[in-house]
Amino acid sequence: MEITAATLLLLLLGLSCLVVHLRGKGQRKRGCLPPGPRPLPLLGNLLQLDTKDMAKSLLMLSERYGPVYTLHLGPQRMVVLCGYQAVKEALVDQAEAFSGRGDLPVLFRLTQGNGIALSNGEKWKVLRRFALQTLRNFGMGKRSLEERIQQEAQCLGQELAHTQSAPFDPTFLISQAVANVICSIVFGDRFDYQDGSFLTLVGLINQNAHLYSSPWGQMYNIFPGPMSCLPGPHNRIFENFEQLRQFVLERVKMHQESFDPNCPRDFIDCFLLKMEQENQDPLSYFHTETLVMTTHNLFFAGTETVSTTLRYGFLLLMKYPEIQARSQRSPAPDRACPCCLRDQPRCQAALPPSGTNVLPLLFSVHNDPAQFKDPATFDPAHFLDPSGGFRKHDAFMAFSAGKRVCLGEGLARMELFLLFTTVLQRFTLTPLVRPEDIDISPLMSGLGNMPRPYEFRAVPR
Ligand code: HEM
Repeated sequence: MEITAATLLLLLLGLSCLVVHLRGKGQRKRGCLPPGPRPLPLLGNLLQLDTKDMAKSLLMLSERYGPVYTLHLGPQRMVVLCGYQAVKEALVDQAEAFSGRGDLPVLFRLTQGNGIALSNGEKWKVLRRFALQTLRNFGMGKRSLEERIQQEAQCLGQELAHTQSAPFDPTFLISQAVANVICSIVFGDRFDYQDGSFLTLVGLINQNAHLYSSPWGQMYNIFPGPMSCLPGPHNRIFENFEQLRQFVLERVKMHQESFDPNCPRDFIDCFLLKMEQENQDPLSYFHTETLVMTTHNLFFAGTETVSTTLRYGFLLLMKYPEIQARSQRSPAPDRACPCCLRDQPRCQAALPPSGTNVLPLLFSVHNDPAQFKDPATFDPAHFLDPSGGFRKHDAFMAFSAGKRVCLGEGLARMELFLLFTTVLQRFTLTPLVRPEDIDISPLMSGLGNMPRPYEFRAVPR
């Protein structure tokens, strides 16, 4: 197989799904590895994968080696879990053993193990519990999460109205609306869509999201040592991150100046309060660095995912106009969301040795014919009951499962519901090509499936 730059790029994008350790439990240290294709030195199994369609390659390997197999990506060894049964038996049935997060060097250099998504052990537990509790409290607070999202949905509606049905690419606007929800939670207020510092913030988040998945970001993950000495676009990730860090620090200082412990206004205030309460405890996990990284996690995990899901959802609704029309007729449109699927690295423990990186293929769960009749067909009925309400399906794992299940699932569902319904109640989304010509295959599949860029008209109803 010929490795061109493009091939390498796609291949490395595929890698972005990966990497994590098994939790080191003594009795598992001498576990055995499941079968898998024979690796080449240094390259591992890279040449056995169709880099243009990693998802298909990984599924095909599972047909040959079974639902749990060993794969080498470059020098990295990992165990791949494919299909509902294998993923569920690991993440749900052995939740504790699979609760660790493995090393993603590009992210570790930024986070230094701070924050939630990349930390492990006690620190992860404490910070995750705090973040969940704080988000929950916002749900009940004076200005609830729902109100904040409603406000943003109205602003998004206004921006769409300003387009006066002219064709446009909604990518940046959607990212702004979604990032604003996190801004409102973290900083206490949203930004105007034209605000210079907000444009910079969203630009930095978007650029880093792309750079993480780029061949450079992925090369850094595979060869962190040599790559940190080399010039190249991957260094921009760290520069961007530093800018973002300064941005958050500035906001933290502003919050400190007007801080009232009796009246926390937002996530930063709640964190500052916790810092104050624990400032005599040298082992406390609440300090400025963990505050910055937790904020960073909320932005990164919460902006790209929801905006990509919205963008994909709008595209699907234009491809299937009868479903768009049905959603517009429904007084309470269903809360089932089209999925932006992500494969997450996890620690695995059961059979392989501790410290093994494990890749549960979440998309394979949704493609499992044992769980869904005709899984390749877009069919909202998979997740709706006959009356149109949301039907909980065990094999719905867009937010993963087990102990590391998405921390923002509740927020994401609420955002998707309110943003989709607000837009659909006010506008009919009209494609610039015939629905049958809309290509819904992903442009790229890295941490998630990215839809192809498109333009639409938002025509007032
Ligand atoms: C459609 C939207 C979203 C999808 C599909 C999604 C999906 C996921 C998935 C698959 C994971 C990985 C779980 C694992 O390790 O197995 C995850 C983790 C995470 N998500 Fe989300 N997510 C979404 C929205 C959000 C939002 C809005 C937030 C912000 C509050 C968020 C915050 C996080 C965090 C902090 C983690 C790391 C949790 C941990 O490691 O303990 N996500 N998400």
